[in-house]
Amino acid sequence: MFKSITNCKYFIIISCIISWSSFAGNVSPNDPAIASAHPLATQAGYDILKQGGNAFDAAVAVSSVLSVVEPYSSGLGGGGFFLLHRESDQFQIFVDAREKAPGKADADMYLDEFKNVIPRVSLDGTLAAGIPGLAAGLTHVSEKYGVLPLDQVLAPAIALAENGFPVYERFITALKVAIAIDVMSPKFIENFTLEGEIPEVGTLIKQPELANTLRVIASQGHDGFYNSELTETIVTESNESGSIWTTNDFKNYEIVEREPLQVKFSDYQLTLAPPPSSGGTTIATILNILSEYNYRDMNTAEFVHLITEAMRRAYKDRSEFLGDPDFVVVPVLKLISKNNAIKHSSSINLDRATPSKQIGKSFEANPKEKGTETTHFSILDQDGNRVSTTQTINTWFGSGYMLPSAGFILNNEMDDFSAKAFAPNRYGLVHGEANSKAPNKRMVSSMSPTFIESKDDLAILGTPGGAKIITMVLLSLISWTEGADADAMTSGRRFHHQYLPDEIHHEKDAFGEDVIDSLVSKGHSLKEIGDYGNMQVVTYKKSDGSVKASSDPRALIENSEIDFY
Ligand code: GLY
Repeated sequence: MFKSITNCKYFIIISCIISWSSFAGNVSPNDPAIASAHPLATQAGYDILKQGGNAFDAAVAVSSVLSVVEPYSSGLGGGGFFLLHRESDQFQIFVDAREKAPGKADADMYLDEFKNVIPRVSLDGTLAAGIPGLAAGLTHVSEKYGVLPLDQVLAPAIALAENGFPVYERFITALKVAIAIDVMSPKFIENFTLEGEIPEVGTLIKQPELANTLRVIASQGHDGFYNSELTETIVTESNESGSIWTTNDFKNYEIVEREPLQVKFSDYQLTLAPPPSSGGTTIATILNILSEYNYRDMNTAEFVHLITEAMRRAYKDRSEFLGDPDFVVVPVLKLISKNNAIKHSSSINLDRATPSKQIGKSFEANPKEKGTETTHFSILDQDGNRVSTTQTINTWFGSGYMLPSAGFILNNEMDDFSAKAFAPNRYGLVHGEANSKAPNKRMVSSMSPTFIESKDDLAILGTPGGAKIITMVLLSLISWTEGADADAMTSGRRFHHQYLPDEIHHEKDAFGEDVIDSLVSKGHSLKEIGDYGNMQVVTYKKSDGSVKASSDPRALIENSEIDFY
C-alpha cells in the first residue's frame, strides 16, 4: 500500500507515504497530549478524550472552545485547516475548511475608479468577509472521523458561551487594539466591553447568541449553519450591514479533502499543508534549497544568510504561483523539485545578499501585522491518532463585525487575496494573478499545520502569525531534526524574510552581535520586531511512549489549572 520513498521520482515527493509505525513496533503513547492557546480549550479536549472520544472528537471540542474563549483569533465566522492522521490504517488527510469568496465577489471590488486600492475595505466590516468554513470543518471531522456524537463534543463550547469565560490579559490586549481601530460593530461592543469600557481580568464574558448558534449546529449538523433558518438570519443581518453574501453561498459551501504534501527531509517524513495553503510548498522549497548545501557544517551567520536567501526565493515563488488549486494550476511538483532548488541555488551568493528586486519585481510591501493573529492546536491520542489544526478569522477580531443574532465575528479573510496584482496585503505579502479574487474561490493562506515523523519520534506543530507562520514552522522543524525538544521548539528565537519587504525581521536576541555584523556586512537589512507567534507542539518518543505538550511561552495564558490525565 505504501511506496518506498526511493521509488519516487522527485527529491522531495508528493504522495509518497512511509509508514514509520512498521519500524516502530507496537509502542503506543503512554498518555494523550494536547497543546492549544487556551487552557479551557485544552481542558475540553482532555475531557472529551476521557469520555471515550478520539483525537478527532477532541479536535472538534478544542476548536469550538477556542471559538468561544479566543474570539480575537478564530471562530465560526472564519475557517481553518485540519491535518489528520488515523493510526489504525495510517490514513492522512488535509481537511480544507478555508473561507471562500462570495458568489458576487469581483476581482476589482476593493479598487476605486482609478484602479487604486481603497484602504481598509478588505479589512473592516462585512465586505471584508469570506463565506465561513469552520462550522463545515467541525461537522465533517466529527461525523467522518470522530466516535462521539456532535452534540457531546460541542457541549464544552456551548457551556462556556452560555455561562461565560473569564477575561484574561491577552484578551484585553487584543480588545485594546480592536477598539483603537474603531470599527467594531454594536454587538461586538455590547458583548465584549462594559458599555465601551475594557473589562477587568476575571470578568465573565457570556455569549448567549453564540451558544444558540452552536446548539443549532449540534442538533442539525452542517445544514444548521449552511442551510437553515439561522443561515437566512446570518445572510439578512450581514446584508443589512453591507455584505454581498447570499444564502446560495452558504448552500454551496463545502470543505475539500486534499492530499497533504509528503516530503522527505534528512531522516524525517514531513506531512505538510497543500494549496490553498502556501505553507507546505514554501517550506519544502526552502528545505530543498538548504539540501543543496552542507548547511550543518556552517556557522550560525553563514546558516542564517543561506536560509534567508532560500526564504527570499521560496516566498517569491509563493507570490507568483500560489492560488486556489480548484481555480488555477499551482505547479507544486515543479516548485518543490530538485531542479527548482538547483535553479534557485545557482543565484545564491554565499558572501552577498541578493537584493529581492534582482530576482523579481520590486513592490512596496510594509507589513502592518506583527504575527500573533490566528490560533493553532496539536493533539495526539493514546491510539496514536493525530490532529494539527490552524484556524483563523485573519487579523485580531477579524472584520470587527459581530452578527447580532448569531453572535460570532465575521472574518476579514478577503484581505488574503490580492486587492490587485502585487498590491501588498496586511502582512506585506504580494500575490500575482493566481491569487486574484473570483466568485467562490479560496484565498491563499500561510497556515501550516505539520507533522514531522521519523522511525524514532514524532512532532505535531503549527502556529499563528500570518506571513511568518511558514518561517516559524520551518525553523522549529529544523531544530527538531537537530535534537530540540518541544519546549525548545516553542521558545526558540525567530527570524523571517518574505522576499518583500527586503528585510530580515527578527526577535530580540535572535542573533548575537557577531551574526548581526556578518549579515549586515553581506548587505542584509535587519529590523528587530517584538516577539511573535504562539506555537503549539506535541511530541512523542516511540522508544518509551513518552509524550510532551508545549505551548509558546510568549503567549501563555496562566490563571487556569488543567486536569491532565
Ligand atoms: N489569514 C492568514 C492566513 O490564512 O494566512
